[in-house]
Amino acid sequence: MTEPLMRVEGLRKTFKTSRWPAPPLRTVAIDDVSLEVHAGEAVGIAGESGSGKSTLISAMCGLVSPDAGRVLLHGKELHHKGRFDRRAWQQLQLVFQDPYTSLNPSMTIEENVAEPVRWWKGASRKEAIATAREMLDLVGLGSGMIARRPGQLSGGQRQRVSIARALATEPELVFLDESVSALDVSIQAQILELLLRLREERNLTYVLVSHDISVLRLVCDRVVVMQRGRVVEERPSAELTVEGVTEDYTRQLLEAVPTITPAVLH
Ligand SMILES: Nc1ncnc2c1ncn2[C@@H]1O[C@H](COP(=O)(O)OP(=O)(O)OP(=O)(O)O)[C@@H](O)[C@H]1O
Ligand SMILES: [Mg+2]
Repeated sequence: MTEPLMRVEGLRKTFKTSRWPAPPLRTVAIDDVSLEVHAGEAVGIAGESGSGKSTLISAMCGLVSPDAGRVLLHGKELHHKGRFDRRAWQQLQLVFQDPYTSLNPSMTIEENVAEPVRWWKGASRKEAIATAREMLDLVGLGSGMIARRPGQLSGGQRQRVSIARALATEPELVFLDESVSALDVSIQAQILELLLRLREERNLTYVLVSHDISVLRLVCDRVVVMQRGRVVEERPSAELTVEGVTEDYTRQLLEAVPTITPAVLH
């Protein structure tokens, strides 16, 4: 069998919150999580709020160092002896849950997208701007937008800028954290369509986090369901029906109002 693009083995992360003078509170955010992502695949991560989804993908892209377990990219450990493999970072991109915090408010949209291209790819300013324009065009933000600053865009437009920024460095694997959840249904549909298109056109591999399992079922091949920091079920999207799943928890997620139907996407 081919080596997966990313393999996660027995990952655990605990957060300690000080409550002085009371003893610190320990939260087990993820516990013994293992999963694989293959090249060209779209993997969904579902689960209620606080189930550990963001912590898991933060560890998968190296922003959080795990207490136990390993993350391997092409079979090589991301964290080795407490140090992070910086070269691997270039292959991974994360679109944050709140796009506002990840964009520089004083730079234009175009500069926001061009910056990581210069940083990671060592491109000239001219090359980086050309790539930024191409990516912004790809996500449907035309020349009328590029000179604006993040504060002058709608939430959906900002989300698309974050996606353009993440894709501009041509990463192997992109993580999207609740990237559509806060948006209204028509914008959600636009972003989901974009993901499907990028998969087809650029063979993009992505891991999409959402508490809304109906969204994941539409744009992912396989969905991993998390509850209280653990993976409780993993299914191909086609089997994600009330009859097809084994866990009551997954069934509850499925029954919790589907907000998007395939009809919306066309
Ligand atoms: N930096 C932190 N310090 C302390 N506790 C944290 C921290 N980050 C996450 N946690 C805790 O870890 C658990 C998992 O959080 P996480 O953000 O991964 O959940 P989530 O599934 O992404 O939730 P949501 O759907 O609300 O975004 C929660 O109980 C959360 O309070
Ligand atoms: Mg989260």
